[in-house]
Amino acid sequence: MKEGAEAGQSGAVRLSALGRRAERPTIARLMNLALERRDVLSLAAGFTDSATLPMKEVREAVDLLASGLVGAEWLQYGMNQGRPELRQLLARRLAKGEPEIGAIGEMASRILVTNGSQQALYLAVQVLCDPGDIVLVDRPSYFVFLEMLSGLGVEARSIPTDGAGRIDQAALEGVLDRMALRGEMSRLKAVYFVSYFSNPSSRSLAEKEKNELAAALRGRGCLPAVIEDAAYRELYFESPHGARSVLTLPAWEDFPRLYLSTMTKSFATGMKLGFGYCTDALWLEKMLAVKGHHDFGTSNMAQAVAERVISNGTFDRHLSKMRTVYRRKMEALDEALETQGLRGLGWKWVRPKGGLYLWLRGPGGLATGLDSAFCRACLDHGVIYVPGELCFGDDAPVNDVRLSFGVLGEAELAEAARRFVSAARSMGAPGAGGGQATIG
Ligand SMILES: Cc1ncc(COP(=O)(O)O)c(C=O)c1O
Repeated sequence: MKEGAEAGQSGAVRLSALGRRAERPTIARLMNLALERRDVLSLAAGFTDSATLPMKEVREAVDLLASGLVGAEWLQYGMNQGRPELRQLLARRLAKGEPEIGAIGEMASRILVTNGSQQALYLAVQVLCDPGDIVLVDRPSYFVFLEMLSGLGVEARSIPTDGAGRIDQAALEGVLDRMALRGEMSRLKAVYFVSYFSNPSSRSLAEKEKNELAAALRGRGCLPAVIEDAAYRELYFESPHGARSVLTLPAWEDFPRLYLSTMTKSFATGMKLGFGYCTDALWLEKMLAVKGHHDFGTSNMAQAVAERVISNGTFDRHLSKMRTVYRRKMEALDEALETQGLRGLGWKWVRPKGGLYLWLRGPGGLATGLDSAFCRACLDHGVIYVPGELCFGDDAPVNDVRLSFGVLGEAELAEAARRFVSAARSMGAPGAGGGQATIG
């Protein structure tokens, strides 16, 4: 920045520390690219299936609301915390999976309805962390959350994993011991993980992993706030993942916990409705205070629609359709990558059991970052993806890739796979060194 601008002499805005740290999010860049370049097939941004968005279901709900039979309050401002009836409905849904959580009325009082679960993530971290604080994150993790941490000046530290992606207990103990030795424990404010059909890896955490993580923290007298992000929990293909959440696992009982879910993936992405269930009264109170500063309430209309579709069963019917749609789309992408011969080029991946993503590891030495030769080759072949290196809090491998099968149809997924494999093939044989060059 020029000196004059810094001193405010040139008429340029003088930014806060937060404003100076803020960078254009990669997600916005990828979404724009997907929308602007019609020739490019996007396996990048986490859009949902456009062809099956619940038009009819939403129209019926809006028709009823607009009929005058239920008044017009849904077109008025609503409550900062969220509509009471919607919170009751969400509490009931939550208790269906884990009945031992508690009484519905009390549960509803602990729920805040947010403008997507992304807003809940921001509120949660904003009221916990100052610049320089540390958040332990899963490995790999949700890259938009990682970018948000960096925008807030908060450091992400990875929870170590083994070759199969499971939490590596011994390595975790080592990480925590080193943090204690360096006197960093007071800066460790939160732990974050996406525990069901994760973005990006599609892996789910076993109860054992969650329990051992809790034990490792508790064993050091450390009880940071826990954020369990369950955005994809309901988007399983055949059966739900059996692990209980931190809300009912006894190992986490003494920790302040925030459990997050969203209707954007499971119902209508554009309604942008998410919610959090918080076990800690002070944490919840502060998040609500800051939400009051943000918007003093999530769209009342979107919430009223959600109330209708949940209470009349439309939501669950749609969701069960979506499970089949996404399973088929996953199979279309997975099978096309297989038959096009990607494994023969040294790529590895595991077939997911839910969620919206395939998580691929490229051959050693192949850089996949946004400025890499491979990324350029993919663009030239008319396909984009999310570089895996964005999905790590620290020590990022360079050769991972996230492919989303959310938005494209089955035929387009097969074509996108063909383009992706052609781009991979254009980099040369594994180990030939063709993948190592970067540009820009
Ligand atoms: C793991 C995870 N958490 C949270 C979000 C935020 O979703 P939304 O704000 O649309 O509810 C996403 C979106 O992709 C996600 O993948």
